[in-house]
Amino acid sequence: MKYYLKTYGCQMNVHDSELVAGVLEAFGLKRGALQEADLILLNTCSVRDRAEQKVRTLLGELRKMKIIKPPLIVGVMGCMAVRAQDYLKSLPFVDFLLGPEELGSLPGLLSPILKKRGFNPPTPLPQIAYKRNRGVSALVNITSGCDNFCSYCVVPYLRGREWSRRPEEILQEIEDLARWGFREVMLLGQNVNSYGKEIEGWNFERLLEEAQKIEGIDRIRYTTSHPRDFTKSLVLKIKNLSKVCEHFHLPVQSGSSRVLNSMNRGYTREEYLDLVSFIRKEIPHSSITTDIIVGYPEESEEDFLRTAELMERVHFDNAHILTYSPRPGTSAYPLGDPIPSEEKARRLHFLQELQRKHALERNSALSGQVVEVLVEGRDPKGHLLGRTRTNKEVFFTGEDYLIGQLTLVRVEDVTPWSLRGKRP
Ligand code: SAH
Ligand code: SF4
Ligand code: F3S
Repeated sequence: MKYYLKTYGCQMNVHDSELVAGVLEAFGLKRGALQEADLILLNTCSVRDRAEQKVRTLLGELRKMKIIKPPLIVGVMGCMAVRAQDYLKSLPFVDFLLGPEELGSLPGLLSPILKKRGFNPPTPLPQIAYKRNRGVSALVNITSGCDNFCSYCVVPYLRGREWSRRPEEILQEIEDLARWGFREVMLLGQNVNSYGKEIEGWNFERLLEEAQKIEGIDRIRYTTSHPRDFTKSLVLKIKNLSKVCEHFHLPVQSGSSRVLNSMNRGYTREEYLDLVSFIRKEIPHSSITTDIIVGYPEESEEDFLRTAELMERVHFDNAHILTYSPRPGTSAYPLGDPIPSEEKARRLHFLQELQRKHALERNSALSGQVVEVLVEGRDPKGHLLGRTRTNKEVFFTGEDYLIGQLTLVRVEDVTPWSLRGKRP
């Protein structure tokens, strides 16, 4: 039996899909193409309507596929399985739904469905483990859920209350990963900076400190940070922990304190800029990236220009700029969506162009320099692909044995999105 698994949304979903693939392969299923699959699973995202639209389009295709091939099993997992459950339950060709907090019940749910189709899972089931893709960098959950309730965001309603995984469990997992040959870990949570709130004696700084001690791991990354909870003490800690990468992803969302207040973000423009200056002063070669929303209901032209101005002040290395999408159930939903879509598009393109310019400037500064990259694999054109500690992609030529290794590359050519170079 073959399965097809498609993942939308954030890194947490990518990691959840690794667990689901682990379950399916423990059942004896093999990964295959959409057309040949007996089981199709969509791991969905609800963060904006656009994310859900992609899923609805594919579901339209699956409806037709199931008419031709009635034994096909279709499952919808992830955030849409919670947010859009009424809609999904009304679709007769969807066999089951599974929310992001219910992944543990997948084996029990799947067993009878597969048996009905004449496929008997092995008994007892072999141990279920994450099926990680590449043997270089691994995702590791440290917190789940979110308690922040940013006014525009649907995540807290879908992923539940925030809780932290036990530190012993996390550190054991990282040790295992190091033994299996992984060189880098990415610690995951919707707000990693509040890790350990409910665990006596623990916080994010201590977790980084303990992870640093694990031999075999060369790089530690984490996502996502919340600017409100990113303390100067954490910046200094990172400065002193050699394995923790100098990449700060600090989603600002808006450059206007008025809008930030309405968004319930818990920091002002000035506090954000102060944190950025502190990082730049203490760790000058670090990179800073962000997320920005344009067209929030209360965003005036003046607020929008404040965001552009903040970008001019910071010169981000990268920014994910998105147009606002009203999400039912969030506290901003009653504000409606008063800014016309053409105006949102204008604001989006303006900031994207500004960002392209800043990213090119930031990358150009690296031209001629030698950077350390961790080699992840090859791109479709056959170039080696590595990543700097500052999270920039670097393409260069070289032998296969370099995959999974740290190596030096001299930067020769840059674009706003990547670097190109040669081994010196
Ligand atoms: N916990 C993370 C990620 C949340 S979702 C964080 O706080 O950054 C990722 C990004 O999606 C957010 O940073 C935000 O920029 C964007 N986003 C969330 N809800 C949105 C909405 N309703 N409309 C547009 N963008 C949204
Ligand atoms: Fe959403 Fe805010 Fe939580 Fe991020 S911190 S997931 S934007 S509520
Ligand atoms: Fe999307 Fe859910 Fe992640 S809404 S961004 S998949 S937490």
